[in-house]
Amino acid sequence: MRESLIGMARNPAARDIIILAQMKSLALVPLCLYVLAFAQPSISDEDVWKNFTAWLERQAPNSKPNDLIISYRESLLKQGIAEGETGRRMGVVSNFIFTRRKGVELLWDKVYGGNNPIFIQSPSAVVMNAIEGRKSGKALDVGMGQGRNAVYLAVRGWDVTGFDPSGEGIRIARSNADKAGVKIRALVDRDDEFQYGEAQWDLIVITYVRDLTTVDAQRFWKALRPGGLVVYENGADESNSVLRAFLGYEIIRFEDVQTNPEWNPDHWIRVQRLIAQKTIK
Ligand SMILES: C[S@@+](CC[C@H](N)C(=O)[O-])C[C@H]1O[C@@H](n2cnc3c(N)ncnc32)[C@H](O)[C@@H]1O
Repeated sequence: MRESLIGMARNPAARDIIILAQMKSLALVPLCLYVLAFAQPSISDEDVWKNFTAWLERQAPNSKPNDLIISYRESLLKQGIAEGETGRRMGVVSNFIFTRRKGVELLWDKVYGGNNPIFIQSPSAVVMNAIEGRKSGKALDVGMGQGRNAVYLAVRGWDVTGFDPSGEGIRIARSNADKAGVKIRALVDRDDEFQYGEAQWDLIVITYVRDLTTVDAQRFWKALRPGGLVVYENGADESNSVLRAFLGYEIIRFEDVQTNPEWNPDHWIRVQRLIAQKTIK
């Protein structure tokens, strides 16, 4: 074997083959280094989430949640993460961002900390319509954000409690109430943890938070005083599930309209509005 190698080395053609082979193996070194440096093993969903929240914490406030999400995608691509893996990670992020406590708090704190709001700051027309001609009482604003509806109700003599998971939203809501010269109870809390109580409220407002379900309809029924109202507005659910969830109530108003929503009013989308009353027959 040794002989044959020496023999090959003496033969110019064979020597060229050996040199070529050596060059090829040298060429593999940078390729291997490249693969080691840039290959992105698929990390677990929990690690995707941890990386994203750490990144989000470092970002400046931004009123547009979409801008934040898009710039995270760009940052992954800049790190050399392949399109497919970036897509997978963004899927994990969008699944968790509106459901996990930390995602909700961080995202909405960033949004409310920004100074270019993409939402209407005056009260919801459906809330104004719902209380027209009604005696004021105890109102609850679920996911109150900056308190546009809570402050409006307090100014009209309602005794208002509101809550939101965003500490920044609550800080601004309290400051808006101070500016309007009214008192509201504004709490950092979540809809799945807040104690709604029994027969407590004359009005429950929930605007642009999420679609309501039969579980919400039952929970609100228990929490409302007889004659109390639920006032709801959000982008339309496709299957009328919100309306169906409230059919045990008296439906005072329901509409499903194509319009500019109060959140992201530059868009033209279907919006549903509901005023439902706990009427005991
Ligand atoms: C689009 S904003 C609407 C704010 C306000 N209702 C309005 O119409 O101006 C959605 C709000 O829902 C809040 N939110 C998100 N998850 C929530 C939860 N689990 N419980 C209560 N509020 C929540 C967010 O923090 C945010 O303030």
